[in-house]
Amino acid sequence: ISKARRQSVIWLSFQECTGCTESITRSHSPTLESLIFEMISLDYHHTLQAASGEAAEHARLQAMKDNEGKYLVIVDGSIPMGNPGYSAIAGISNHDMLVETAKGAAAIVAVGTCATYGGIPMADPNPTGAVPVSDIVKDKPIINVPGCPPIPVVMTGVLAHFLTFGGIPELDALGRPKSFYGETIHDRCYRRPFYDQGKFAETFDDEAARNGWCLFKLGCKGPVTYNACATTKWNDGTSFPIESGHGCIGCSEPKFWDAGPFYKA
Ligand code: SF4
Ligand code: F3S
Repeated sequence: ISKARRQSVIWLSFQECTGCTESITRSHSPTLESLIFEMISLDYHHTLQAASGEAAEHARLQAMKDNEGKYLVIVDGSIPMGNPGYSAIAGISNHDMLVETAKGAAAIVAVGTCATYGGIPMADPNPTGAVPVSDIVKDKPIINVPGCPPIPVVMTGVLAHFLTFGGIPELDALGRPKSFYGETIHDRCYRRPFYDQGKFAETFDDEAARNGWCLFKLGCKGPVTYNACATTKWNDGTSFPIESGHGCIGCSEPKFWDAGPFYKA
């Protein structure tokens, strides 16, 4: 293990469900242990840091001071603009904590569909006035890593790229790394030959479904969803939603919650 000072990372959690953190703990390459004990210095993270209360906030401020202009900020969750009290941390509104912490950052990584596009908290009628990180931070590079949650190795892969090359990867028009979001689920889906032959399941339990035919007629959003699930898969390459028998619901796309229906009658 190198004695060189590791990259300081401050992880801010706003209106979120902790699913993004749950997901990153399942990364197998690199593992979470390898990431936080060998590659980065995770100086602030509500779920994973040892400190709590005032000591936790002190750790965030100290990391900002010690690594001015160099630290990386990861954000999960949307920012509620409807009321500064919603989701406040240590008496600080999510908006103010984001602005304060982003100021000295080298870059921001927005993980999950809430931080990247507003996500489920922003679903109609958006009761908290939720907005994504990019609506507030305008003067820093932002890498969007959407998904509900994002794929573990996509999150760690983006961090590994930053650590290795010291910069942000090539991004698409929505700020997503092209290496992971350059193709649709449909482009790489193993059920694609059935789609091309016009072989579709009509219900979740018909003969066609049992034979693994295409789920397009059951509402699969794979053709319009950019993500790496069909290639990296989930749980150490075990499976992904379509392989489990359910169509893609487009969880890495903006407004996926309102763009439904998930199911077609
Ligand atoms: Fe495309 Fe979905 Fe059919 Fe796969 S299951 S081929 S992603 S429509
Ligand atoms: Fe999400 Fe579709 Fe992958 S629902 S997890 S992008 S297959």
